[in-house]
Amino acid sequence: MTLKPWLAISILFFFFISNVIGAFVGINIGTDVTNLPPASDVVALLKARQITHVRLFNADAHMLNALANTSIEVIIGVTNEEVLGIGESPSTAAAWVNRNVAAYMPGTNITAIAVGSEVLTAIPNAAPVLVPAMNYLHKALVASRLNNQVKVSTPQSMDVIAKAFPPSTATFNSSWNSTIFQILQFLRNTNSYYMLNAYPYYEYVHSDGIFPIEYALFQPLSAVKQIVDPNTLFHYVSMFDALVDATYNSIEALNFSDIPVVVTETGWPWAGGSNEPDATKENAETFNNNLIRRVSNDTGPPSQPKIPINTFIYEMFNEDKRPGPISERSWGVFSTNGSDVYTLGLGSSDSISDNSSTAFCVAKPGADENKLQDGINWACGQGRANCSAIQSGKPCYFPDTIQNHASYAYNDYYQRMHSLGGTCDFDGTATMTTQDPSSRTCKFTGSSNSGGGVFPPAAFGPISATSQCSTIRSPVIAYTMVVFLALLILDVNAHFVF
Ligand SMILES: *[C@@H]1O[C@H](CO)[C@@H](O)[C@H](O)[C@H]1NC(C)=O
Ligand SMILES: *[C@@H]1O[C@H](CO)[C@@H](O)[C@H](O)[C@H]1NC(C)=O
Ligand SMILES: *[C@@H]1O[C@H](CO)[C@@H](O)[C@H](O)[C@H]1NC(C)=O
Ligand SMILES: *[C@@H]1O[C@H](CO)[C@@H](O)[C@H](O)[C@H]1NC(C)=O
Ligand SMILES: *[C@@H]1O[C@H](CO)[C@@H](O)[C@H](O)[C@H]1NC(C)=O
Ligand SMILES: *[C@@H]1O[C@H](CO)[C@@H](O)[C@H](O)[C@H]1NC(C)=O
Ligand SMILES: *[C@@H]1O[C@H](CO)[C@@H](O)[C@H](O)[C@H]1NC(C)=O
Ligand SMILES: *[C@@H]1O[C@H](CO)[C@@H](O)[C@H](O)[C@H]1NC(C)=O
Ligand SMILES: *[C@@H]1O[C@H](CO)[C@@H](O)[C@H](O)[C@H]1NC(C)=O
Repeated sequence: MTLKPWLAISILFFFFISNVIGAFVGINIGTDVTNLPPASDVVALLKARQITHVRLFNADAHMLNALANTSIEVIIGVTNEEVLGIGESPSTAAAWVNRNVAAYMPGTNITAIAVGSEVLTAIPNAAPVLVPAMNYLHKALVASRLNNQVKVSTPQSMDVIAKAFPPSTATFNSSWNSTIFQILQFLRNTNSYYMLNAYPYYEYVHSDGIFPIEYALFQPLSAVKQIVDPNTLFHYVSMFDALVDATYNSIEALNFSDIPVVVTETGWPWAGGSNEPDATKENAETFNNNLIRRVSNDTGPPSQPKIPINTFIYEMFNEDKRPGPISERSWGVFSTNGSDVYTLGLGSSDSISDNSSTAFCVAKPGADENKLQDGINWACGQGRANCSAIQSGKPCYFPDTIQNHASYAYNDYYQRMHSLGGTCDFDGTATMTTQDPSSRTCKFTGSSNSGGGVFPPAAFGPISATSQCSTIRSPVIAYTMVVFLALLILDVNAHFVF
């Protein structure tokens, strides 16, 4: 039997699509949070925002249960405290895998174990047991026949790279050669990937003005400020691309190839102390939205254009219980009530405009909350509105506010009853609007939009224990920046020196 040409073309097209539309933006979920919502609410929010990939810093049982049967892909974490025990004992590793991985599969789609958080720079003394820990965990997965679904890797900070700029000459800090060499060998032998925590925010802040902020925020650079690697002549339109390429080149310098890089943490803090003027909502919004746009264009960095840069944003909620400067506690993109801290292109809270002339009945902004609660009670009770969508775990539960719940309930009542004389009043707390209040996943009654995602399926994912280490790398960064600058200036052909 021969393959029909159209079928062959369709299949090829399918492969093309499925390969190319691979890139995802996931989110890290740190738990040093006052009033952390229950796991079921966190998962409802993930679903509402169509977030398809998460990274946990530990193996929290509540989260792993709540993530079951959701199709959300999950990276779980061995904490730095656990690395030592696992690296010293295969049976501890096996018990860890049984308790935290095997017990939840296949219901929960665990796709990787992140062993520690920036171990080499955070707890250098544990370096000798890091690769043994990875090996023991992998062997335990093999024994449980889970090694094909679950990869083992270890997130590293940019600080393991001694000289990140220009990317073409980047190398790992040679004091880590032997550990990094073993890590890369392990990753290659097990078809795993390199986990990179890359923060343009810190690189920018510590560069003392050598790099323009536009470069860190993925914004266009003026002709005179183009950033070009003098050796490859690759244009780097964003620092994010440069950091990923520095990592690829460092890996290559140790003669490894075919190990993809996944960015397990990146982001931008939206608040900071008086000495942290760049930690603003505006910059965070710009960075994360441009990041999502960048990743979802499915191209790799200049040296690896065909390998999309799968990325996890740091992080879901502010980890307000963490120590350190204000910025350290201000990376969250959602409030714990489920509302956006700033508008993010991942989500569902932005209204979808549509052309229908339907009018919607919603809660008046600023209306008294007690009156709104009475209105909800009446609409969902006597008024017979269908309020199931605003129950916990349902698509319209978020944002979990009286205002939102009242809007949903009022509108459902109104759409059913207005032809029978039902009005949009609710003791003066309701108002009509032609703006469809629906979001990507919460469809208001009467809305004609399909509620489908405008944004491609995005995967979103934090590490809690060690990100503050990133704050202590300034001398190295400043030094490498100067080197990069010097290289650019020395290159006489470089008309693009900024
Ligand atoms: C997931 O779905 C399966 C099959 O439908 C069911 O047996 C299991 O209890 C569900 N798991 C959870 C945690 O809801
Ligand atoms: C789990 O994730 C993997 C990796 O993307 C995917 O291939 C697989 O279909 C997922 N499994 C389930 C049950 O959703
Ligand atoms: C390399 O790592 C060593 C040990 O951690 C550190 O002392 C040194 O400053 C690092 N060198 C560079 C260039 O980062
Ligand atoms: C580490 O690896 C680099 C790159 O391959 C090499 O140039 C360097 O000499 C090595 N350093 C040590 C201490 O082995
Ligand atoms: C990488 O391979 C080249 C060419 O085979 C060799 O000269 C070089 O020493 C190797 N470097 C390392 C770090 O193994
Ligand atoms: C994708 O992003 C890269 C790097 O930012 C950029 O060079 C390229 O032009 C973009 N491609 C598209 C199709 O937008
Ligand atoms: C959600 O919480 C944030 C932060 O606490 C607050 O600013 C915001 O007003 C709340 N949103 C609503 C709709 O209540
Ligand atoms: C929406 O309305 C505008 C102006 O009336 C029209 O140009 C546009 O084609 C409409 N879009 C859709 C999707 O119907
Ligand atoms: C109420 O709404 C839900 C969806 O939000 C729907 O599944 C259910 O069938 C509705 N119930 C009635 C009685 O209309």
